[in-house]
Order: sequence, then structure tokens, then C-alpha cells
Amino acid sequence: MIGRLNHVAIAVADLDAATSVYRDTLGAKVSAPVDLPEHGVTTVFVELPNTKIELLLPLGEDSPVANFVKRNPGGGVHHICYEVDDIIAARDKLVADGARVLGGGEPKIGAHNKPVLFLHPKDFCGTLVEIEQV
Ligand code: CO
Repeated sequence: MIGRLNHVAIAVADLDAATSVYRDTLGAKVSAPVDLPEHGVTTVFVELPNTKIELLLPLGEDSPVANFVKRNPGGGVHHICYEVDDIIAARDKLVADGARVLGGGEPKIGAHNKPVLFLHPKDFCGTLVEIEQV
């Protein structure tokens, strides 16, 4: 069901420092920071030949990554995102298999203007999983 790895998201407390690590130390192509208020994050997109890294900085009081960054002040892998062809079919299969879909189960429009859902980390080997319809 799942296809390509679309991105790995890393949440950080210092977006400039994280951007510098990827741009200057690792030599990757990075975007300018993009505020996504509806997602509660400021993001820098790191483009790699085969996938993307998204650096996430909490934005606003209710940011879904705020607590994660408090617990991981040095940063950490927050979620991984897999591509699916049909997000509703994917959701229905996951729910039928007993997986927990977060946020009420209705897809939201994600950072790439495509529908996304998040899946409970306890059902996926301790990793918060995002699925994105591409
Ligand atoms: Co993501």
C-alpha cells in the first residue's frame, strides 16, 4: 500500500542552526523558512535526490510539535511520511486492521497542499507516521 518515502520530519528548537547544519555542514539544498500557521510550524524543506527532510520549528501556542521539542531540546526525528495513491482507501484499510488514525480520521491538507493523515506511533513501531496522497 505505501509507496515512496516522501519526507522525514525533524523537529528542532533552533531552525537557523538546523538549516546551517543541512546547508553548510551536509551540503544540501535548503529552502527559505515557510510559516504554516494552520499546522503550527515553520518549515525549512531540505531537498535530497531521493526524498526530502523537513525541519520543523514550533509556531504559535498550540503547535503540535511544541511538547516534542520541549522533551527533545536538541531536536529529534518527529515523523516519517509515506506516499499512498488513495488516502481514503488507505485509511479504511488501516482502521479495519485496528490502527489508530489521529485527529478524527478526516484527511487534512498538508504542507505540500496534498491530503495527509497521521497514524498513532504505538501502532507503527514507535514512529509517528504520516501518509500523503500524491
Ligand atoms: Co510531514
